[in-house]
Amino acid sequence: MFDVYETRKKYPILNGIKMEGHNLVYMDSGATALKPQCVIDKVVEYYSEYSTNTHRGDYPLAHRADEEYEKVRKIVKEFINCNDENEIVYTYGTTHSINVLAHGIKHMLKKGDVVLISEFEHASNVLPWFRLKDEIGIEIEYVKLDEKHHLTPELFKESMHDGVKLVCLAHISNVLGQCLDIKEIAKITHDYNAIIAVDGAQSVPHIKVDVKDLDIDFLSFSAHKFGGPTGIGVLYGKYDLLNKLEAYNLGGGMNTRIECNTCYFIKEAPFKFEAGTPAIEATIGMGKAIQFIMDIGMDNIHEHIKKIRKHAIDRLQNELPEVIIYNPENEGAPLAFNVKGYEGARCQDIGSALATYGIAVRTGEHCAKLLPNLIGTKGSVRASLYLYNTIEDMDCLVDALKDIVAKEKENKGDALSWLL
Ligand SMILES: Cc1ncc(COP(=O)(O)O)c(C=O)c1O
Repeated sequence: MFDVYETRKKYPILNGIKMEGHNLVYMDSGATALKPQCVIDKVVEYYSEYSTNTHRGDYPLAHRADEEYEKVRKIVKEFINCNDENEIVYTYGTTHSINVLAHGIKHMLKKGDVVLISEFEHASNVLPWFRLKDEIGIEIEYVKLDEKHHLTPELFKESMHDGVKLVCLAHISNVLGQCLDIKEIAKITHDYNAIIAVDGAQSVPHIKVDVKDLDIDFLSFSAHKFGGPTGIGVLYGKYDLLNKLEAYNLGGGMNTRIECNTCYFIKEAPFKFEAGTPAIEATIGMGKAIQFIMDIGMDNIHEHIKKIRKHAIDRLQNELPEVIIYNPENEGAPLAFNVKGYEGARCQDIGSALATYGIAVRTGEHCAKLLPNLIGTKGSVRASLYLYNTIEDMDCLVDALKDIVAKEKENKGDALSWLL
């Protein structure tokens, strides 16, 4: 049985760290999640007991580093249920994974081929494709969305045609939080003989992502969004497709032989994509973070977040007509809103005001810079939740917003002067 209060005890930052004199209410997990003690300990263990390089040394300490480092591929394999641990490429995070993919797949695309994305994508799943347009003349198209900015399989089908060679979508958007029916979308993609690459930055930390069941070709994610270290992530690919990608980084560890006549031979996937000394401690820490959330159970995490999110939305909708919520019906962890009169860039004032209550949220465009086309504002406040948030955190957010709105009314438009 998942007990959020017991779980919170495992996060040192939630036990004693204050912000603006208040206990920290952390609602910025969409940017990066807090780290449990076991992950911190695992990283320290590497640095204290066997901080050697990997795949290089022939002595027991180096063997231990190799073992711990490679064991993580097995943990990831189980986590996302892929066929083989060689389908797991270690990267520096989602952004890096998508760039490795975009570079690697370039030789399989040609001028006029369509890459289909959405207007709710994070910049990391937009700009690598824009660059391919500049480099080889692919075309970018956007999926059709309904009036609530939702992508249904029906609308996806309408957006597909024979020219689409690659579909790149966020499983869960980092602002609106819709969880796409990726299984159905993947099926339709394959009916058109196209490839589907899923940005799992916001889904992998929150729901069970089973790449075999979903039948997706590529998946990218970052460990820091589920409590692992920064600087480590994964690019998963079905092996044959993955092995067809061209490597971007060339260097040590990814080659088998180099000759003076400039001939060189490279390894097979995943090692061909892992040139240079990797983020060893971060990789080992990622393994621990995955075990930690798997022990809690992905369904428990999802159900918990759904419950506390609904609590906040019900209260906001009933008690604060001054707040506009952009995604009340979605189940994902981000809750995007604005206080009326504080839309656009002024949402930052609300973020600063919430900080004075000890509440950490993110404000602005959240790197989804095409999204204003959909929601009509260039900025919003995003409270993004994770497994350590409680009903009390949600009450704290709503009560703080009520207080801010009341103080604003008292100050009659003298915007947030009480903050100064
Ligand atoms: C949907 C989505 N894609 C990609 C990224 C980029 O992740 P990272 O900064 O870890 O590379 C993020 C980060 O917020 C995200 O939310």
